[in-house]
Amino acid sequence: MALLSDTGVVNVPLLDLVAQYRAIKDEVLPALQAVIESQQFVMGPSVPRLESAIAGLAHAKHGIACASGTDALLLPLQALDLKPGDEVVTTPFTFFATAGAIHNAGGTPVFADVEPGTLNIDPAAVEAVLTPRTRAVMPVHLYGQMAAVERMLPLARARGLRVIEDAAQAIGARRRIDGQWRMAGELGWATGFSFFPSKNLGAWGDGGMMVTSDDALAERLRKLRLHGGAKQYHHDEVGTNSRLDSLQAAVLLAKLPHLASWSARRRDHASYYDKGLSDIPGDLGYKAGRLPQAERACREVLSLPVFPELTQQQLDHVIETIRGFYR
Ligand SMILES: Cc1ncc(COP(=O)(O)O)c(C=O)c1O
Repeated sequence: MALLSDTGVVNVPLLDLVAQYRAIKDEVLPALQAVIESQQFVMGPSVPRLESAIAGLAHAKHGIACASGTDALLLPLQALDLKPGDEVVTTPFTFFATAGAIHNAGGTPVFADVEPGTLNIDPAAVEAVLTPRTRAVMPVHLYGQMAAVERMLPLARARGLRVIEDAAQAIGARRRIDGQWRMAGELGWATGFSFFPSKNLGAWGDGGMMVTSDDALAERLRKLRLHGGAKQYHHDEVGTNSRLDSLQAAVLLAKLPHLASWSARRRDHASYYDKGLSDIPGDLGYKAGRLPQAERACREVLSLPVFPELTQQQLDHVIETIRGFYR
C-alpha cells in the first residue's frame, strides 16, 4: 500500500519481517550459532525446549513439533483413522490447508457457516450439519479471536466426536469461558499451530506444533511424525517425516519472549485504526437483496485474462486450470 504524506510517498507493507529481524537479530543469531556449533540439526535440544514452552503457553500437557502448520492439522486427523465417507465439519472461511488436511487424511470436509461478529465457525451451524458420519469438528481461530469452542465441546462429547483446533493463526489467543481465560489449544483434543514466517510467531522457514493433553494421542502423534516409530528403526505403522528443524526451534525460542508484547502492539495498532476511522460511515444503507443481479454477479463472476499478448499456451493453461477445478 503506498500512501501520500507531506514528506512524499510512505510505503506501508502488510508485514515487515526485515524490521523485526533488525530488532531481534542479536538474540536470534547467537542461538542459531549454538545449534550450528553443536551440529544437532535434527531433534536437537532446542526442539523439546520449544515443545514444552508452547505446550505451557497453550495450557496443554504435550507439545509435538512438526514441519508445518498443515502437518500440525494433518497428523491429528490421521490419528482419527478416517474411513472413506467420514466427515469433518469445518469453516469455509479459512486458508486452504484446513479443508486440504481433512481431504488428505481421507475425510470429507463439511462446511458450516461462520458467525457474523467474529467470522469464526458458528456452533449452531455446526450442529445443523452433523450426521452419523461426522467424526470431528475443526474450528479455526481467526483474527486473534478464538472460536466458541466451549459450545462445540458438548456437541462433540454427546456424539463421541473429536474437536481439533486450527490455531495456525492464533498462538497465544484466549477466550473467557465461565469467568476463566482459556487458551487456544487448551480445550480441543488436539490443536495445530503454524510457524510460517508471516505468522505472529514465525520461524525462518516452515514449522508447526501440535499440542494435546491426551497422553495416548501425544504418543501416536510422535510416531506419526517419525515414520510411525518413536524409537529409531522400530516402525509400528506408516507415518511420515515431519520434524521441526533444531535451527527453526532455536529461532522460535529466541522470538517467544517477545510474543506477548508484539501481540499487545498489534492490538494497540488495531485500536488506533478504530479510533482514527470511527467517524467514517461504512455503509450506504443498501440491504442485501436490493440489487439481486449485481449481488449474484459479485458471487459468480470470474474474470479471465484476455489481454492481446496472451499465448495459446497461456490460454490452454487457464482452460486446464478451470477444468481441473471442476474435476
Ligand atoms: C488457518 C490456517 N490453517 C492452516 C495453515 C497452514 O499452515 P502452514 O502454512 O504452516 O502449513 C495456515 C497458514 O497459512 C492457516 O492460516
